[in-house]
Amino acid sequence: MPDYRLGFESLRHELHDPDLPVQGDWPDWLTGTLFRNGPAQFEVGEEEYAHWFDGHAMLHAFRMDGGTVGYRNRFVQSQSRTEALQDGRIVRSEFATDPCMSIFGRVMSTFNPQPTDNASINVARLDDQYVALTATPLPVAFDPETLETAGVVEYADDVAADMSTPHPHVEPGTGRLLTQMLSFGRQCQYKIGAIPPDSRTRELLATLSVDRPSYMHSFGMTEHYVVLSEWPLTVNPLDLLLRGKPFIENFEWRPEGGTRFRVLRKRDGAEVATLAADPAFGFHHVNAFERDGAVVCDIVTYPDASIIDDLYLDRLRSDDPTPGTGHLRRYTLPLDGGAASSRVLGDEQIELPRIHEAAAVARPYEYVYGIGTRQEGQFSDQLVKMGVPDGMTQTWHEPGTHPGEPVFVPHPEGTAEDDGVVLSVVLDPAGEESFLLLLDADSFTERARATVPHPIPFGFHGQFFE
Ligand code: CO
Repeated sequence: MPDYRLGFESLRHELHDPDLPVQGDWPDWLTGTLFRNGPAQFEVGEEEYAHWFDGHAMLHAFRMDGGTVGYRNRFVQSQSRTEALQDGRIVRSEFATDPCMSIFGRVMSTFNPQPTDNASINVARLDDQYVALTATPLPVAFDPETLETAGVVEYADDVAADMSTPHPHVEPGTGRLLTQMLSFGRQCQYKIGAIPPDSRTRELLATLSVDRPSYMHSFGMTEHYVVLSEWPLTVNPLDLLLRGKPFIENFEWRPEGGTRFRVLRKRDGAEVATLAADPAFGFHHVNAFERDGAVVCDIVTYPDASIIDDLYLDRLRSDDPTPGTGHLRRYTLPLDGGAASSRVLGDEQIELPRIHEAAAVARPYEYVYGIGTRQEGQFSDQLVKMGVPDGMTQTWHEPGTHPGEPVFVPHPEGTAEDDGVVLSVVLDPAGEESFLLLLDADSFTERARATVPHPIPFGFHGQFFE
């Protein structure tokens, strides 16, 4: 039975097709490359990775020029992958998979930890390099033409960090890359770093000590502030040191602590407000801005952290999968303290949220694009364009197909926030292939598609670069 589960199977095939078959009217003005990242190999030898976030990273590049679309895909030759292929077994610990090892090996790995460089989550520009990102501070550079791996980029600083968000922000005006890090130790610390354009130096903007760090995948940024959302999914760092369990399984859901928002001023690193909110969990901050003495912070949220469990591969491949989508929640965080207030925007479920970055980051804005759930028992079976804050939605769907993260690309002469196109890699299990869908962002209807001759596993994030 062909269905979305094909999106959680390995793709070992690498190919280059300079001219994919295109149906419809691919816009002439659209010149550049959409890079997509995601896992594409879920087993090594006899061993299987446990979680969607663990598979070996593969990059996909869609090059667009004069109405044509070329395609190339290639594995990231990370040390994690290289060592695993050499040994025929899983060697490095991933998000929810640890290698099998003897007691001796476990002790050795505690004293000689090898953080994963399996950069499967996102893509960014860092200094003069294109890099693949994961949640460790090991960006992996790649050639934008051939997708060949160039190796881990070394930062030109001595900032200690064990974790680093795969969702850095490009700061409007300065072009700095703002990133959120976490270092484990006797005293754990959250750190906010700013990397100037054409630099590999993380200048520390803020440091916060924390006893039980929260698992945070992304953070918020406004003109003057950054916002940390400390969900009540926290870890005793000693548990990580003893490494009895895979990384994420050391984190505990403690709803009695609620969610805590920490608003940090970029200029001097001061914590200007700390706000309590109901327990919740989220991966993705969507956007944030300042208004009327408060920070408004939009995040895709879940009632609890069970979404992480739902994304284990055995669950995703079962007959009872998660829809994998949450609700867009708007938090209002008064800068003079007190309690956060929040409300859900719209009825539609959404994930992998994107906005018109160049026009909307850190400002009041109008639209969020994401994947959605139309039918229970399906995984990502529609694309959603949601108006904010009214929650009015437009959707795109095609029965039997499963879209990935929608990336908005503005029209070069556009003025409206939604003047442009939306690009999404859509899995077509019946055809055993995928296609790059191009929607007109305004009407949210199909304008064209380019077909790829193999099924692309569900990925996480991508970026369009001119
Ligand atoms: Co993400």
